[in-house]
Amino acid sequence: MPGPTDARPTLAVIGLGYLGATHAICMADLGYDVIGLDVDAARIDALAGGTVPFFEPGLDELLGKVLPTGRLTFTTSYDDIAAADVHFLCVGTPQRKGENAADTSYVDAAVDSLAARITKPCVVVGKSTVPVGTAERVAERFAGLDVELVWNPEFLREGLAIEDTLHPDRLVFGVKAPRGEQAMRAVFAPIIETGVPVVVTDLATAQLVKVAANAFLATKISFINAMAEVCEVVHADVKKLSEALSYDERIGGRFLHAGLGFGGGCLPKDIRAFMARAEELGVDQALSFLTEVDAINQRRRARMVDLTRGLLDDTLPGRRIAILGAAFKPHSDDIRDSPALDVASRLHDAGAHVTVYDPAALANARRDYPALAYAESAVEAAVDADAVLHLTEWPEFVRMDPAALGDVVRQRNIVDGRNALDAARWRAADWHYRALGRP
Ligand code: UGA
Repeated sequence: MPGPTDARPTLAVIGLGYLGATHAICMADLGYDVIGLDVDAARIDALAGGTVPFFEPGLDELLGKVLPTGRLTFTTSYDDIAAADVHFLCVGTPQRKGENAADTSYVDAAVDSLAARITKPCVVVGKSTVPVGTAERVAERFAGLDVELVWNPEFLREGLAIEDTLHPDRLVFGVKAPRGEQAMRAVFAPIIETGVPVVVTDLATAQLVKVAANAFLATKISFINAMAEVCEVVHADVKKLSEALSYDERIGGRFLHAGLGFGGGCLPKDIRAFMARAEELGVDQALSFLTEVDAINQRRRARMVDLTRGLLDDTLPGRRIAILGAAFKPHSDDIRDSPALDVASRLHDAGAHVTVYDPAALANARRDYPALAYAESAVEAAVDADAVLHLTEWPEFVRMDPAALGDVVRQRNIVDGRNALDAARWRAADWHYRALGRP
């Protein structure tokens, strides 16, 4: 007699980057049989061997838990996933070189490879972040096959990927027919049963929800960073300003932290791709404010360099600068569009001796920024430094002992690019403390 779990659909996850690997591991943990596919054989070997090829708290442990169950397997061959009931498309859509638009060629390649193998009725679920209109194009590619296409945007944050996958704020199902909604409600039943809200919509709206969410978050960060620019001129304190705003429930305090601004593989490229798509659609005016959101964000990096130069008597050549942080945010080893490494490079290009330390992203930083110097600890990076720049708010930096660091530097200058250090504590230890948007 087949038990209830035997009736469960078999899942395939195509593309095992951040999104796909997390999704595959979490769905296997929920009890599904999952087969993960990636064209990168090294990535497949790592995952099959129990190693997550990027830093995500808890994911290695979860992979170690599900692998012995046999429910999660990996392949590089589309032939191996042809029999799955539900195919999740999780491939990347990076920014095109020299353009704002997203490169959807990985989506197209995955869809072509899959369409050529499908021999039975199935559901294809798009999770990749795409320019609106992509899903409709993908649906055409499956014409003539018994494929139900659904768009199910993903809102997971790096560093909180498992939590966001298993306990999301909401699930969005963009469907063409009731059959798509039924399939999604069945697949996500274990998550929906915990009370997670479900929004069912059309394909276009589902694709838009994702980019609209990231555009809003980027706008909120740039809004407070614009206020920081004003604060700097009138000697006001953006941290207090943000705190005072946060008590207004209509505004809220999340994503209202002023500092070096946003980076990563999502927010910057998503707002640019959104603008590029709006231009194609003839609604570029509607999103012209995102040009300013991007510009404010870039200006924070330039301001960080200027502030550092100002602290060092307007001379950067020959100065020794310690950079604390390389990842685009804490609890990640991701350095894509990292504000910290952008500032480090700018200072290096201006002639400073820059030494970078990060608890998780050193290997990635070394690979992509070979001209910079690296250290194995914050203290080692700070030896003989004329200035210390705090650019990614890892807990170990926030907890750092100002006196211990003060013993090794040449000059006690600290610039807090994330407004996360306790200014009074640093000043009490004789540091010259400066921050973005604060007196
Ligand atoms: C972002 C979104 O938050 C996720 O919902 C989305 O699913 C994901 O992109 C994606 O599109 O895949 P993530 O890139 O992991 O997630 O990073 P965030 O936590 O959003 O942080 C983005 C950047 O904003 C970081 O550089 C962070 O330091 C910066 N930030 C964040 C601020 O400067 N101030 C804030 O108040 C908050």
